[in-house]
Formats: sequence, structure tokens, C-alpha cells
Amino acid sequence: MYSEKVMDHFENPRNVGKLEDANAVGEVGNATCGDIMKIYMKIENGIIEDVSFKTFGCGAAIATSSMATELVKGKTVEEALQLTNKAVMEALDGLPPAKVHCSVLAEQAIHAALKDYSEKTGIDLGLPESVHEFDCASFHKSMNEENKK
Ligand code: FES
Repeated sequence: MYSEKVMDHFENPRNVGKLEDANAVGEVGNATCGDIMKIYMKIENGIIEDVSFKTFGCGAAIATSSMATELVKGKTVEEALQLTNKAVMEALDGLPPAKVHCSVLAEQAIHAALKDYSEKTGIDLGLPESVHEFDCASFHKSMNEENKK
């Protein structure tokens, strides 16, 4: 049920741990499952030079954190802002429907780190105010409503 890529990133996660010289940090939590994801970034001249993560969560959350860090490494902050959970899932060759919300956590964690960067530097990235809270229950509700259409 999990793709080989998901299993690979779960068993051999890339960019794990705290980045000592990070200048942007984002942490998000899922109120329903209790999982927590923290992303560290070292951003120089608008480029994400280095990135790492610490995730206390399910296997899909670890695999999506790992893939998300790979996808934003070396990118500009603007490019990283465009990263969606869909792109992370595609890069992992998909996730089971019940695990889609875990990839949303990865997207939110990247956004939270970029928000931190924006606040520290005063650079307006046009981010929404509330990126720190992600409510799994309402996400599933909206997904179910989408599916009914
Ligand atoms: Fe919580 Fe996957 S079950 S992030």
C-alpha cells in the first residue's frame, strides 16, 4: 500500500536532525493525531542553502518531511513557497488516501519556516497569518465534501 519511494524515505530519511546554523525554523502540529513536524532552514540571499527536519509522527509524516526537504533544498524562498502537498505526494509516487493529511503537514511546516524567515528579515512573502495550526478533522471534512461533488 505504500510506494517504494515512501518506504525508502521512511527507512532512510534525508536531512534529519537539527540544523545548528539555521536562520529559519517552522513547527506545526496536527491537533488530531498529535504528530509534530519541525523544519530548519539556512537561507542565504533568498536561497535555501540547507534544510533539515525533526518529525515526531507517523511513517508517512517522516517520508513526506524527508521528501519535502529534498524538494526545497537549493531553491529560492519563492520557489519553496510554491511547494504543495500534492507535489510532495507525486514525488513519493502517491500516498494512501488516509495518509494525505500527513503530506499537508509537510507543506505547512515548510510554510511555517518561511514565515519565520519573513518575520525575522522583514521580507514580505505574502504568507497567510495562520500557518501554525493544522486541523486534521476539518481537513478530512473538507476532503469528504470535495469527494461528494
Ligand atoms: Fe499524523 Fe500522519 S498520522 S501526520
